[in-house]
Amino acid sequence: MLKGKTILVGITGSVAAYKAVDLIRRLRDAGATVKAIMTDKSKNFITPLSVSLACGAPVAADMFEEPFSHIDGPAQADVFVVAPATANSIGKFAGGIADDLLSTSFLVFRGGFVLAPAMNWRMYEHPVVKKNLASLLSQGAVLVEPQRGTLACGEEGVGKMAGVDAIIEAIIAVVTPKDLSGEHILITAGPTREPIDPVRFFSNRSSGKMGYAFARVARRRGAVVTLVSGPTAISAPEGVDVVRVETASEMYSAVMGRIDTASIAVMTAAVSDFCVAEQRSEKADKADIALLKLDRTPDILAAVGALSRRPFTVGFAAETGARIERAERKLISKGADMIVFNDVLAEGAGFETDTNVVTIITRNADATCQKEYLPLSHKEAVASAIIDSIIARRA
Ligand code: PMT
Repeated sequence: MLKGKTILVGITGSVAAYKAVDLIRRLRDAGATVKAIMTDKSKNFITPLSVSLACGAPVAADMFEEPFSHIDGPAQADVFVVAPATANSIGKFAGGIADDLLSTSFLVFRGGFVLAPAMNWRMYEHPVVKKNLASLLSQGAVLVEPQRGTLACGEEGVGKMAGVDAIIEAIIAVVTPKDLSGEHILITAGPTREPIDPVRFFSNRSSGKMGYAFARVARRRGAVVTLVSGPTAISAPEGVDVVRVETASEMYSAVMGRIDTASIAVMTAAVSDFCVAEQRSEKADKADIALLKLDRTPDILAAVGALSRRPFTVGFAAETGARIERAERKLISKGADMIVFNDVLAEGAGFETDTNVVTIITRNADATCQKEYLPLSHKEAVASAIIDSIIARRA
């Protein structure tokens, strides 16, 4: 998503300046060209040599070395990110003060501007800093909120620069066209866990990667996203409302309670088809386990598909082998508008992988099925292609 983009990284005088090197490397790994501007004070924390090695280009620091560096750098950039951004630099940007290369470049730049503040918590809470930030945000700047933690001074509070992942996510969001704005997408992700007794449960191998990738991509494209998630180890995507559930019936209630406002529903979750008929209140004996009776869980996708007023409804069909006709049957039996066939035994596909290989199946007006094969791609790219297909179908 950052391939071919030019990112201008401003580094100011904070102890978090060293993290800028990792940020620059990661942006370049993602295919971006990165140029950096360092303030004089930032050089107390990190050397221009480290930054220029990370960028693969000399670092701009002095306006008078190259007379038009404050014009050329910003003019070529798609995104301008200041990480870390001190209270001083934020004050200068908000006040229009242009007394060095960074602050002058800010006034020249037209485009997505991202700020990742880092400072003592008292400074971050100060009304003047809050006012300056509010003023910049009202003009379109994007804030990557600092985190709570132990600060350089040893105090605990909100002021630690956000992680590199969060900053990169904000940059990607800035360059992504907002073709889903006005949409509410409800996504299910991960496995469900069906308890047997207080100690044991049964579940499956879903990691949640497919659903979380969908949520990130939909959010970047401007949708309001609700992610109903079974137990996973993945952290909540930025700006997404995550509803955590454990069992299939909890997932059913969470989905049905929120479906009214959804315009698109995407069910990537590997919902258990069965739960224990009678959950034990104490650890069951091994002999009892062998005699467990199972009940069917509610079919969430089918329940959404049966609603008289329903969102555009997408299901995933996890199959072992090239059994695409089973996925086609699920499209009909579950009342979905689209089903994504996922052979979970294919190389690089299915559970726990970062990539997937799927076929998008929709129904034509004459009741035949239309199939679109997507080759092995990162789960975010798969999500993006499915969203393109949803948009095309609804047009
Ligand atoms: O989470 P990852 O590790 O990234 O793995 C991704 C994935 C393999 C889980 C995902 O790509 C996938 O294929 N999800 C569908 C898993 C599944 O349960 O398939 P199914 O064929 O059993 O179910 C068909 C559809 O009905 C699915 O949309 C499922 O969410 C839904 N369903 C199933 C049972 C049930 N009780 N309620 C449901 O809503």
